Amino acid sequence: MTTKTRRVFIKTYGCQMNVYDSDRMTDVLAAEGYEAAERPEDADLVLLNTCHIREKAAEKVYSEVGKLRLVKEAARAQGREVKIAVAGCVAQAEGEEILKRAQAVDVVVGPQSYHLLPQLLRREGRAIETEFPADSKFDHLPKAGVPSASVSAFLTVQEGCDKFCTFCVVPYTRGAEASRPVEKIVAEAEALVARGAKEIMLLGQNVNAYHGEAAGQFGKGGTWSLARLVACLSEVPGIERIRYTTSHPRDMSDDLIAAHARLPKLMPYLHLPVQAGSDRVLQAMNRKHDRGFYLRLVETLREARPDLALSGDFIVGFPGETEADFRQTLALVEEVQYASAYSFKYSPRPGTPAAEMDQVPEDEKSERLQRLQALISKQQADFNARMRGLQVDVLFEKPGRHPGQIVGRSPWLQAVQVDAPRDMIGTVARVRIEAIGANSLFGALADAPTREKAIA
Ligand code: 5AD
Ligand code: SF4
Repeated sequence: MTTKTRRVFIKTYGCQMNVYDSDRMTDVLAAEGYEAAERPEDADLVLLNTCHIREKAAEKVYSEVGKLRLVKEAARAQGREVKIAVAGCVAQAEGEEILKRAQAVDVVVGPQSYHLLPQLLRREGRAIETEFPADSKFDHLPKAGVPSASVSAFLTVQEGCDKFCTFCVVPYTRGAEASRPVEKIVAEAEALVARGAKEIMLLGQNVNAYHGEAAGQFGKGGTWSLARLVACLSEVPGIERIRYTTSHPRDMSDDLIAAHARLPKLMPYLHLPVQAGSDRVLQAMNRKHDRGFYLRLVETLREARPDLALSGDFIVGFPGETEADFRQTLALVEEVQYASAYSFKYSPRPGTPAAEMDQVPEDEKSERLQRLQALISKQQADFNARMRGLQVDVLFEKPGRHPGQIVGRSPWLQAVQVDAPRDMIGTVARVRIEAIGANSLFGALADAPTREKAIA
């Protein structure tokens, strides 16, 4: 145990799970006496938490390390040592290669080994850990130690993926699907609430495949589904809202659909990636669902929860995708009407099956991406525009852009800016939406709202 204060700067790339992991690494390092630094120049340890999901992730990391090498050399000239650590999925995928190519890097640590960071940092010389240890990293991470949590806090419940979509590196970088036990999750949720969280965002690469062991007060063994976990969490005092992401259509079980109808704390917004609209492409992607299955699922979900808004992920220019296939993606988007969606050009990931297939030329990918993004932007704008004049419940999260303003989220994840006192941060209030901006809605506190009107 050391008491000397050192400082760490963490740069996080990629998904929400990386944000969660960076927070946990902050906790692990806090126990070792590390405080947060504002800039790499002020740090004793610079940690890059990397993402490998798309294009040139590794190149980005090497170029970032190149810049950090200068920081390291400048510090050394002043008699100070700065360590550089590469964590996350690029660390997992590239492993030893990083130590070979980037002499400035001291530590390489994969996503399953963050609890070993202190040990790795103490080692003489350079260190690497990219195994998938049998014992879970979650069992070793100290309880979140930072004094306050965000109003909306992430909680990882599941990691890894067994689906093996042919374009995706996740099954290789994050490993096989694994769910955390129920009691650990509930305890962490309670700890987050005690530190001020009001909304819990349950995270997992394939979160709706959750199947966690329930023991002790939660049962005599047996596994729980995500629906059961959400129902349990909605009983935890202080939790006002629950969300989960990312879901695979195949794992959208009946009990989870029913939970959307039954549990008012489960927010009516679902990220449900379909990736493409053509059955031929979906099959080549090994998505394990077709267009019809997805569209029927959306219909069932909307029957269960009529105000449910959907978001999605799309890949354009997957190997072999023709113009006719792509038009089916556009048609599917038209049919579903998304509240928001992410779309990407297919990017070959080394080691995945699709990287070996016949590639679509880059200019075609770009052209399709533009068309898809135009359609999605229009749908998002339409969705937001429909909020004008409605009253919606907003959970306030932080100060707004202008003095006197605070900003929160609608049930549908839209940012809402309101003139209201700061002490309303952390509370839910009814807001009348008055104006629609490009990135947020603007509203005023409503006095005596009615629920029917809010969902109209
Ligand atoms: N190329 C482009 N997009 C990808 N995604 C995953 N792998 C790739 C790839 N190789 C997208 C998918 C996924 C999201 C997180 O990233 O749409 O849902
Ligand atoms: Fe990747 Fe998601 Fe497919 Fe799993 S389900 S392989 S995480 S795209």
